[in-house]
Amino acid sequence: MALLLTADPGFEDVVLAELADRGYRGEARPYGYAGLVRTDADVAGIEGLRSIHHAVVERASCLLPSTDLDSAVRTLAGVPFPELGPETTFAVRVHRRGDHGFKSPDLERALGAALVERYQAPVDLENPRVLVRVDLFEARALVGVQLTRAPLSRRYRKVYAPPAALKTTVAYGLLRLAGVRGEGRLLDAFTGSGTIAIEAAQVFPGVRVVAVDKNPRAVAGAVDNAAAAGVAGRIHFLVADARKLIGQLPPGLDWIVANPPYGRRLGRSEDLRALYARFLDQAAVILKPGGRLVLLAKRRGMAVRLVRERPALRLRHLRVVELGGLYVGLLLIERVRS
Ligand SMILES: C[S@@+](CC[C@H](N)C(=O)[O-])C[C@H]1O[C@@H](n2cnc3c(N)ncnc32)[C@H](O)[C@@H]1O
Repeated sequence: MALLLTADPGFEDVVLAELADRGYRGEARPYGYAGLVRTDADVAGIEGLRSIHHAVVERASCLLPSTDLDSAVRTLAGVPFPELGPETTFAVRVHRRGDHGFKSPDLERALGAALVERYQAPVDLENPRVLVRVDLFEARALVGVQLTRAPLSRRYRKVYAPPAALKTTVAYGLLRLAGVRGEGRLLDAFTGSGTIAIEAAQVFPGVRVVAVDKNPRAVAGAVDNAAAAGVAGRIHFLVADARKLIGQLPPGLDWIVANPPYGRRLGRSEDLRALYARFLDQAAVILKPGGRLVLLAKRRGMAVRLVRERPALRLRHLRVVELGGLYVGLLLIERVRS
């Protein structure tokens, strides 16, 4: 029995690393699909993973003969679900990428009706015993039984949740890619609702966490979120401008993780350039030699050029990740050891 794990596209290697910590193996992007990992881990093995949203017991992978509703239902209703029967409530959830001649709720209803007929199982949309999950990627359908109900990424109740807030899974991925571990000092430089700082405080008890935002409303909200997550006492929150950190924070930081604005509300792209440039100047001073910065940058070409213009910084790695439909550059930057 293989498990399919859903993750944030671009962070599949973080899932593999977390699985490897527990002695399990995985395959990133089965069939080439971003945001999926297949693993040999058992159900107990995935408990508490911080890099995934959902876990699904894989039942079948089929190619739909055509993308109309009838042929989709005919193909998918043939997948056996031996756990279904008159005593077992169920629901169907469909996640669709690509063009189909139907919407997800159409397939949920039609496949649900076909399974009622086949197994006489009652539908319970609120609290089903069995959650049948179908992931459609164009003509490929991955069919399984979803084990998780609320996403594992929902770890605490966000009292303050601005639209640009990251998912906790993404925050975990950024911290892992920065190499955060053991003891040291970490800065979340544009903390917003505090997702990165809170994740760090929960996962790395030996790390001292500082979180700054120039917006007092954001800092107040992040403090409330940290309290809801049970780590308020572990994070030093500060209203500060990430362009003027030298002198505000003691130098010698081990890690900085930065999720600056994407620029949609900043106006001209020149403003974003100035923000990246001035923040990088700060990072080059307050990081210790060998210290690492992970930067999420909407304008990745511009961010790469700015890093290359600064001799104290070196770009070690660049990738593109998908965050809520936006493609964003993830830069791993090191302060050079002189
Ligand atoms: C993309 S949001 C960060 C979201 C955050 N990672 C979260 O999960 O909620 C960017 C944040 O940067 C803050 N910001 C913008 N310019 C700043 C600056 N110069 N210094 C510090 N914070 C700044 C904004 O107030 C906003 O909260």
